[in-house]
Amino acid sequence: MKVFHIVGARPNFMKVAPVLQALKAYPSIQQVLVHTGQHYDANMSDVFFEQLGIPAPDVNLAVGSGTHARQTAEIMTRFEPVVVEAKPDLVLVYGDVNSTVAAALVCAKLGIRVGHVEAGLRSFDRSMPEEINRLLTDQLADALFTPSEDGDANLLKEGIPPHKIFRVGNAMIDSLVRLLPIAERHNRNGWPAGSPARPGLECWGEERYALVTLHRPSNVDDSAALKSILESLLAVNRDVAVVFPAHPRTRQRISDFGLKTDQLRLLDPLPYVDFLGLQSRAQVVITDSGGIQEETTYLGVPCLTLRENTERPITVTLGTNVLVGRDPEKLRVELSTILSGKHKKGTIPPLWDGHAGERIAAVVAA
Ligand code: UD1
Repeated sequence: MKVFHIVGARPNFMKVAPVLQALKAYPSIQQVLVHTGQHYDANMSDVFFEQLGIPAPDVNLAVGSGTHARQTAEIMTRFEPVVVEAKPDLVLVYGDVNSTVAAALVCAKLGIRVGHVEAGLRSFDRSMPEEINRLLTDQLADALFTPSEDGDANLLKEGIPPHKIFRVGNAMIDSLVRLLPIAERHNRNGWPAGSPARPGLECWGEERYALVTLHRPSNVDDSAALKSILESLLAVNRDVAVVFPAHPRTRQRISDFGLKTDQLRLLDPLPYVDFLGLQSRAQVVITDSGGIQEETTYLGVPCLTLRENTERPITVTLGTNVLVGRDPEKLRVELSTILSGKHKKGTIPPLWDGHAGERIAAVVAA
C-alpha cells in the first residue's frame, strides 16, 4: 500500500511527524512525503523538519507565495502529475492551509482516497480562509480524523456518514509530548545542546514574560487593526516583558504601515523546540494562532486569543484559553487576572495523550 503525506506550511509539520513515525510500524506501507513549498523560508520550514525528525521530502513542489487562488491553483497544477504517475492508495492531508484543500481537491477528482488529519474543526466564520479550506476538505475526504468530540458533531451536522469519522485525538500534541522534555532541557543551551543560545531567548531565564504571536490576515493586513493591537501590546509590556517572534507576513506589515514596536522584543520566527520551551515557561501567551490555543491548553499556560471566535472551542470549555477579540479593555482585565494568579487552570482534553499518530496509523493500515 502506498500512502502520500502532503504538507506545505509551518503548522502541518508537527502534525505529520507522529503519523510518519507511527506508520513505520507497518512494513507493507510505503510512505511518500510531498512538500508543496507554501512555506519556504528556512526558519518557517527546514528547521522544523530537522527538529521534528521528519525525513527530507521525496517531492518538493516549490510553489511559494501568491494570492489564495494563485497559490492553490499552483499546488493543484504541480501536484496532479505527481499523483497520476505514482498512483497512491491514500493521500493524507493535514490541518486547514491552502496546501490541504488543494491536494484534497486534486485527489477527489482522480478518485484517489483522501484522509484528513484534524477534521471537523469549525469557527463558523467564513471570512477566514482556513474555514473555507476546512469545510471543503472535509466534504472531499474519505476518512476524517478528528481531535475532539465537537469535530465529530460538526461533521455529522454537515451530513458526513459516521463510518467515515474516526476520533483519534490531537496529532499536534503527539509532537509536543515527545519534544517537551527536550525543549525544557535545551532551551538554555540552544539547539543542538551545547551550541550558543539563540538570540532572543535570553528571556528563558527570566521570571516573567508574555509570549506573543500574530499573523491572521484580519489582525495584520489592516493598518488600524494592527496599530491598535501593537498599542495594546505596548501596554502589556508595562506589566510584563513582551517577547514576540513575528511571522514574516506580520513583520512585513509592521514595516509597510510604519508602525512602532519600541520596547517589544521582536524576534524572527522561532524553531519548534525553542518556541515550545518558551511557551511552557510563559506567564501568558497572547496569540491569534489556532495550534497555539491547543498547545497552551495542554501545557496549562493561560492563553489570550486575539480573535472573536475559535474553531477549537474545547480550549475554552476545558482548557486555559480565553477569547478577547480585539477589545483592549478585555485584554487588560484578563491579563491582570492572570498576573494575579486567579485565572482558570483548565484540564487536558480526552485523547490529547501523545498517541494520536498511532491511532491514525491503525485506521490507515486496517
Ligand atoms: C498560513 C496558513 C495559516 C497558518 C499559517 C502558519 C493558509 C491559508 N494559511 O498562513 O492557516 O496558520 O500559515 O504560519 O494556508 N512568507 C514568507 N516566508 C515563508 C512563508 C510565507 O515570507 O516561508 C510570507 C509571504 O510574504 C507570504 C505571506 O508570508 O505572502 C503569507 O504566507 P501564506 O503561506 O500565504 O500564508 P500564512 O499567512 O503563512
